[in-house]
Amino acid sequence: MRLPLPVATLLVLPLFTSAYKVPEPLADFYDLVKNGGCTSFYRGRSDLSDGQGNWGYGFCDDTPGAIYVSGEKHLADMDIDCDGAANCGSLKKNSDFQPETAFDDTLAELGYAIPGKSLNASVIPYAVLGTCDVPVAKNKKEKGPVPELGVVAVVCGDKLRYAVFGDTNGCDDDNFTGEASIALARMCFPDEGLDGDNGHTDHDVLYLAFTSEKAVPGPSGAKWDAKTPEEFEASIKDLGDELLEELFKDTEGRTKVGEVGDYGADKKKKGAAQRIWPEKQTVLGGAAAVVALAGLLV
Ligand SMILES: *[C@@H]1O[C@H](CO)[C@@H](O)[C@H](O)[C@H]1NC(C)=O
Ligand SMILES: *[C@@H]1O[C@H](CO)[C@@H](O)[C@H](O)[C@H]1NC(C)=O
Repeated sequence: MRLPLPVATLLVLPLFTSAYKVPEPLADFYDLVKNGGCTSFYRGRSDLSDGQGNWGYGFCDDTPGAIYVSGEKHLADMDIDCDGAANCGSLKKNSDFQPETAFDDTLAELGYAIPGKSLNASVIPYAVLGTCDVPVAKNKKEKGPVPELGVVAVVCGDKLRYAVFGDTNGCDDDNFTGEASIALARMCFPDEGLDGDNGHTDHDVLYLAFTSEKAVPGPSGAKWDAKTPEEFEASIKDLGDELLEELFKDTEGRTKVGEVGDYGADKKKKGAAQRIWPEKQTVLGGAAAVVALAGLLV
């Protein structure tokens, strides 16, 4: 059957439902840290809770350029933030609903094109990072390492999703961490029936935030007036890819290839890649030797 051209074009347009494949260095990083790879917690604090009665969580700062939520023996879970959302389950006592999100002042001051004055948890995929006790936002108030409203790479359900740092756990909450907007939660785990009363309880989510100011798309660098979470995510994908690429470069600018260093001894110099690729050193080193040899022979 011949379709009129506009219809045919529509059919081949990528559907927004597809998640992104986890790139290899990130998959290796995930595997490395999943079972408790964190060697240094921000402010030495690893006494936060997952909200399910388990303690030992914090914001891991052992990777230059990044901060990620980690437990002592596993990664984070995903509680649901419903702020601004109208469709978040019963919104009873366990659900986290407030009419505002943490960075509303910035959103207003810089004129972010959001409908309303807060991020809408039903529409914007965002991660909730930092607590009242352990604030992490890089802004006047918190003076932490993670720029507010910056891109966060989230590995969940074997997929990569891009979100922003959109809210914090305020002082009315317990010392909880591992939380996402309902929009992000449903993108991550579409089959789990998640809502304000039901979070994702497995400890297998990597929230990887970037510390560089480059991570902030700003008012014009993302589709803040998106109608769907996928539309918003698509608008920050290029930036997210760039940030990941940058993070997993070693000190000589190579991605994936790094010397296995005494990681932690000199954090400033050694990149994340150096923790990730030890088993590939021999192979890559061998290949480099072959190439060098071939060069000599020509
Ligand atoms: C948030 O978005 C949902 C879905 O588009 C909408 O139904 C709801 O009214 C919005 N909430 C606010 C506070 O604008
Ligand atoms: C959070 O932890 C701190 C100790 O670091 C404690 O003083 C505070 O009461 C805790 N907050 C809540 C709500 O439990």
